[in-house]
Amino acid sequence: MEGKQRDNWSSRIGFIFAAAGSAVGLGNIWRFPYLAAENGGSAFIFIYLLFVLGIGLNVMIAEFAIGRRTQLAAVGAYKKLDKRFTFAGVIGVLSAFLIMGFYPVVGGWSVAYIVKSFTGLLSDQALIADAFGGFITSSYEPLLWMLLYMAINIYIVAKGVTSGIEKAGKILMPTLLVLFIFVAIRSVTLDGAFEGLKFLFKPDFSKVTGETFLAALGQQFFSLSLGMGCMITYGSYISKKEALPKNALIITLIDTSVAILASIAIIPALFAFGLEVNQGPGLVFIVVPQIFAGMGALGPIISAIFFIALAIAALTSSISLLEVVVAYLIDERKMKRKNAVAVTGLVMTVMSVLSSLSLGAFPSLKLFGVAVFDFFDIITDKIFLAIGGLLIALFVGWFMKKEDMKDELTNGGTLEFGLFNVWYTLIKYVVPVAIALVAIFGIIAIEQ
Ligand code: PFF
Repeated sequence: MEGKQRDNWSSRIGFIFAAAGSAVGLGNIWRFPYLAAENGGSAFIFIYLLFVLGIGLNVMIAEFAIGRRTQLAAVGAYKKLDKRFTFAGVIGVLSAFLIMGFYPVVGGWSVAYIVKSFTGLLSDQALIADAFGGFITSSYEPLLWMLLYMAINIYIVAKGVTSGIEKAGKILMPTLLVLFIFVAIRSVTLDGAFEGLKFLFKPDFSKVTGETFLAALGQQFFSLSLGMGCMITYGSYISKKEALPKNALIITLIDTSVAILASIAIIPALFAFGLEVNQGPGLVFIVVPQIFAGMGALGPIISAIFFIALAIAALTSSISLLEVVVAYLIDERKMKRKNAVAVTGLVMTVMSVLSSLSLGAFPSLKLFGVAVFDFFDIITDKIFLAIGGLLIALFVGWFMKKEDMKDELTNGGTLEFGLFNVWYTLIKYVVPVAIALVAIFGIIAIEQ
């Protein structure tokens, strides 16, 4: 690729929206609130924040640095710097495939729920849970929504970095924020919402186990789009003038705020309506419509707004997942963008079909004893991303020259990065040790 002009983000704000768009997704809105609810409310949030500051933010800075330095997507970037680490990039591409084996299914549900908000879903509060169960376990209905969702992804990524991904992020991200703030305000002003806020912000450390730490670790990698080369790929499109640490901090702050905002939007309302907290992955799709069902004529509209926000958040993330693989095929296999998108999109669609069907229509679709859908979810979140995060930290801390990293993070010495040594120590020692410890204790906890 050297010598050839690489497609770059056209503006700073475009890059921030695209990267924040990748980070903010189903992880923040669909998964974070139920993890927090199941793991002791703010006790989980506290551990999560600790990991984000100590691990995620630093790994993001490292990924941006590697991407921008090499001007290549994950596999090529590792290969260029140290051939022995090419496999780390390959693991990342594999993770992108695996996440895209279930993510579009949930993305499809979100799109479906925009329409369902108006077609009777909210008319009987008591039937909403059954309706969700019936919907996700049926055969072709979720498939059609997933296909529609995939088609939008393919269309955007085929258009390329600036005119597709960047433009989508610029429009969709601010829309999402406005919609979310609206829903959160509605939720906390309901009668009885205070109990939910108390539940959310009063830490219950008795619920914390080794598994909680593992869940928080996996969640922060997933939520910040780390450990699989996504931010290496996006970093490769960042202009040489940008301050990488500052941008990483902004994106991390946005991502974390949305996760907490999502919990504030969902959990107090749960309490206000006297609903069950432990709904697991059904939380958003069961509880949120129930909340809106109690709101009279405005209900369907607010519900649709909520699911538009969810679909938007999912979309800006899944286009980044698709882009990881597409950028690899363009950089390393010299494929044309359109062909790369077509092939990748097709494989991901097939995987998503299988995982959607594994939820009910074909329960025998199992891998290692769990439904294909859950398998793709668990293996990426709890295993692949943590390994990817560990590898990037080890690579940057132990195999790259310290001066090279300093050069990249200070834009050749023209910028201040006063905390460089703190960052370097964290990446070299703290991050690898923390990941290893959490993984070991988490696995022990799961086995007990
Ligand atoms: N960060 C996204 C979310 O929270 O939903 C998911 C994701 C996107 C994970 C891109 C990994 C990735 F590379």
